[in-house]
Amino acid sequence: MTNSSIEKEALIRKINCVYHDAEHSEYDERHEEIIAGEVNWWNKIGEIYFQRKFQNKNSFSLLDIGTGTGFVLRTLMKHLNNESKVVAYDLSQLMLRQAKQNLDSIGSNEHSFVCGDAEILPFADEFFDAITINAVLHHLPNYKRCLSQVKRILKPKGILIISHEPNNKFFKSSLVRLMATVYKIIGGSVVKVSDRIQQKVNNELILSSYIEKELTKDEIIDLVEVSSIAEHKKIDPRRGFNAQTLLDESLVGYSLLEVTSESTFGYRSKIPFIKVIQHAMKYLTEGNGTLFSMIVMKP
Ligand SMILES: C[S@@+](CC[C@H](N)C(=O)[O-])C[C@H]1O[C@@H](n2cnc3c(N)ncnc32)[C@H](O)[C@@H]1O
Repeated sequence: MTNSSIEKEALIRKINCVYHDAEHSEYDERHEEIIAGEVNWWNKIGEIYFQRKFQNKNSFSLLDIGTGTGFVLRTLMKHLNNESKVVAYDLSQLMLRQAKQNLDSIGSNEHSFVCGDAEILPFADEFFDAITINAVLHHLPNYKRCLSQVKRILKPKGILIISHEPNNKFFKSSLVRLMATVYKIIGGSVVKVSDRIQQKVNNELILSSYIEKELTKDEIIDLVEVSSIAEHKKIDPRRGFNAQTLLDESLVGYSLLEVTSESTFGYRSKIPFIKVIQHAMKYLTEGNGTLFSMIVMKP
């Protein structure tokens, strides 16, 4: 790796930390597509994979990587038994603090909270029965490194759930890319950086000598959402992933238990004809959605 790519990776990590620190108290409000939009899916996963598969296991252990405000753990809590060992892991201290506050408030106070990088997981080999990663891989400078660590710390027959990741199959058609671009231009945008967050990020990065001149909002999004597709100004299908390439490249030998793809296209938008656009896109993308989720089992 060259010095400049090492520096770029370090900047992506740092900006994610600072950005999510700045966003922690508003996160749940700003991301209703996750918090309200995906709660049913995670409840179903909790029932099928946690209650049924692990119900007789006393020493069940779960790691949630990039836990944020604790959405996944909050949802899975009712599907885990009291003896479960649960670790919430995140790069942002303030996100972790928010997760603790949220989990405490619903009476779930047995979790451990560990701050660190998803690409360096400080846990013993074959330690966890299950690992969850929701809306995190696309923030990492090197997601393959994270998955190789995940493979090391997951037990044989352990379950890995990767969810809410940008599906590059959705953006294969040039007509879909054009529609997505128009949709962004007319204001149906995705993540918006507020002035407050832009200021905080710039102050912190300049103070810690990561950058010399202030970043624009677009530059901030490009770095924070490094492998997103729709969040960048130019829609580029070389970014993002899909379940099959993750299986072929990073999870070789794992069994695919389930894969789903859903579209959050227009979720936050009030555009009146959005339903028509969504239908057209579904047709053009052969049923693919903007995001995918997958559940795999280690051999
Ligand atoms: C979009 S949020 C998702 C939070 C949560 N999983 C959810 O579904 O609501 C992404 C989270 O990943 C964390 N994150 C970003 N880069 C990370 C890294 N390199 N290591 C660990 N966590 C990271 C952020 O701090 C943030 O909490």
